[in-house]
Amino acid sequence: MTLPIKAERLYITEFNADMAESVHLASLDEDNRKFVPDEVFETVEDAREAVTELMSFYAENASPLVYPVVLNDGRHIGHVQAVPIENGWEIGYHIAKPFTVRGYATEAVIAFLPFITNRLGITQIFGICRADNIASRKVLEKCGFILELERNAPYHGAEHRIRRYKYEVSL
Ligand SMILES: CC(C)(COP(=O)(O)OP(=O)(O)OC[C@H]1O[C@@H](n2cnc3c(N)ncnc32)[C@H](O)[C@@H]1OP(=O)(O)O)[C@@H](O)C(=O)NCCC(=O)NCCS
Repeated sequence: MTLPIKAERLYITEFNADMAESVHLASLDEDNRKFVPDEVFETVEDAREAVTELMSFYAENASPLVYPVVLNDGRHIGHVQAVPIENGWEIGYHIAKPFTVRGYATEAVIAFLPFITNRLGITQIFGICRADNIASRKVLEKCGFILELERNAPYHGAEHRIRRYKYEVSL
């Protein structure tokens, strides 16, 4: 499976240097600040640095592996990603606030799962979110992730009630 991954209304591709401004702007919304504060880029320069580093990871087999989500009309609306964790890999996603509640995260994650599990050679991937992140919980549940546990744990630099879900590739 190769990039771009095409879904009905969007596609998933690799970052290019022109995306620094949209990464910066998309990262500033209140949900991103609340739920994933370490993925907020306050300046275009911060975003450019991150994008440049993420682009180098594709070739170096380094991580995290982060891929922009782009609407078929060319608007860059967010990203999907895979991040290594202690016992495997965790999926992540962000859709910029003006584009939320239209099913884009669900559509992107459904398209991303076969690609990323194949690329990493894995048969399972975790989804971890704050228990009060209802939108994220719904994305995971609609994409076939099963709830494994809910507990208090450190998450993005603070103690939170978190939920861990697991997706298994059906063979
Ligand atoms: C989580 C996030 C990616 C969801 O994106 P999205 O494109 O709106 O998701 P979808 O449209 O596919 O919606 C999934 C479900 O969540 C619901 N939803 C979306 N935003 C919601 C909100 N703020 N509150 C409650 N439910 C919400 C949708 O209605 C949908 O449920 P439904 O099918 O029952 O109607 C987006 O809100 C976001 O980027 N948040 C900030 C970053 C983040 O939290 N990332 C995940 C970290 S674990």
